[in-house]
Amino acid sequence: MYICLCKGVSDKAIRQSVEEGARSWREVQLETGCGTQCGKCACMGKGITREAIRET
Ligand code: FES
Repeated sequence: MYICLCKGVSDKAIRQSVEEGARSWREVQLETGCGTQCGKCACMGKGITREAIRET
């Protein structure tokens, strides 16, 4: 499912970014571009990032 339409980032891409070493929402943003344009996806992106970090 796409979380960020501006940058075309899926929840899978966020999880993958965490799997590859991102340890904060900021790092996921830098790596995927999620939430860096209109910002509407930030809340959801942050939530998925937290969940992914908890699971690793
Ligand atoms: Fe993610 Fe716009 S939907 S920055």
